[in-house]
Amino acid sequence: MSVAPRIIKTQVGIIGGGPAGLMLSHLLAKNGIENVVVEKRDHETIRNTHRAGILEAQAVTMLTDTGVDGRVLTDGDEHAGIDLRFNGESHPLDFRDLVDATVTLYAQNEVFVDLAAARQRDGGDIRYEAEVTEIMDLETETPKFRFTDADGQLYEVHADIIVGADGSRSFARRQMPEGKRNDFKVEYPFAWFGILTEAPKSAPELIYANSPQGFALISQRSETVQRMYFQCDPNEKVENWSEDRIWDELQQRVAGPDGFELKTGPIFDKTVLGFRSFVREPLSHGRMFLVGDAGHTVPPTGAKGLNLAFADVKVLFEAIDSFYSTKSPTLLDGYSDLALKRVWKAQNFSYWMTSMLHTPVNADPFMTRRALGELETVTSSRYGQQYLAESYTGWPHA
Ligand code: PHB
Repeated sequence: MSVAPRIIKTQVGIIGGGPAGLMLSHLLAKNGIENVVVEKRDHETIRNTHRAGILEAQAVTMLTDTGVDGRVLTDGDEHAGIDLRFNGESHPLDFRDLVDATVTLYAQNEVFVDLAAARQRDGGDIRYEAEVTEIMDLETETPKFRFTDADGQLYEVHADIIVGADGSRSFARRQMPEGKRNDFKVEYPFAWFGILTEAPKSAPELIYANSPQGFALISQRSETVQRMYFQCDPNEKVENWSEDRIWDELQQRVAGPDGFELKTGPIFDKTVLGFRSFVREPLSHGRMFLVGDAGHTVPPTGAKGLNLAFADVKVLFEAIDSFYSTKSPTLLDGYSDLALKRVWKAQNFSYWMTSMLHTPVNADPFMTRRALGELETVTSSRYGQQYLAESYTGWPHA
């Protein structure tokens, strides 16, 4: 016996309640556009998922100027540059001087907390622990999806527009018909070993290090908690890494004649993070639109993931808003092409930063030296520095 689903009628049905889905929900609600967000995970799980922590100024503005929360300004840390370290030497880039821009260090899980709180404050309809099992009628004017909530109750959402904001393992993406989709991807022969440690900051800003042992990133979370990563084998097991071994490895990768030393402390989180470059084209099918990781993923080296997701959301929000105010689908029809322009710029930047800073195991010595030549080219010229700084701080939103 099959039980009839409960019907939910709305304007926009959003699959995925991470930062991208919640930001879109927030912007739509502010303009009076009804929406429902359905998210598979529970609030705690998302809150405890550690992701990157760098926000472009435009992403900060999307949080502050739309009334999400000002916490990013008080708890976030404005950074005016990064340090590119190679051959054991520091090469600071000053973004303010180079391109008159800064970025803000504010962990992605805090962005999620702020957005979730804002949706709750404003009476948003966000269903956690609700798994979408079916998406239907995408090529009609009433696309639908079905989901089951934590109590096993089946629902069917009837909307004008469906948005897939369900991350890199997107269910929504898989519902686009074969023959109407193209995937582009690069796999990398390495991953990142990420740690959280209770220690003081080792440097005022982020250090991206290329070393003969491989890449390391010295990032931060607060005055007392630091985030660091080192390049590792994708099959590496965290159990094989004692605290001492981790600190030795990180220290070797930032060591140099200047005697630079990391400030160490207890490590309370260890994770191996695999990554790849991926783009789905187009980012839409019928009345369904993909945003963020559901449509594309980048390696974390350029810190573009969340920033790119917010840029998609902005473009899609304006298209949906125009659809309701003008009754014309023109901007919706242009969403994929417009969003993909920025996606491919970010793909290029992230791939470039990754290849320039990492050293594959058994790397061809020519390629290793070539990457150092590239770092030298970038850091020894103001134009080179500006190219990196402009990309890192973010090209203007469309
Ligand atoms: C982080 O702080 O987690 C972080 C920062 C910059 C990156 C990647 C990750 O490029």
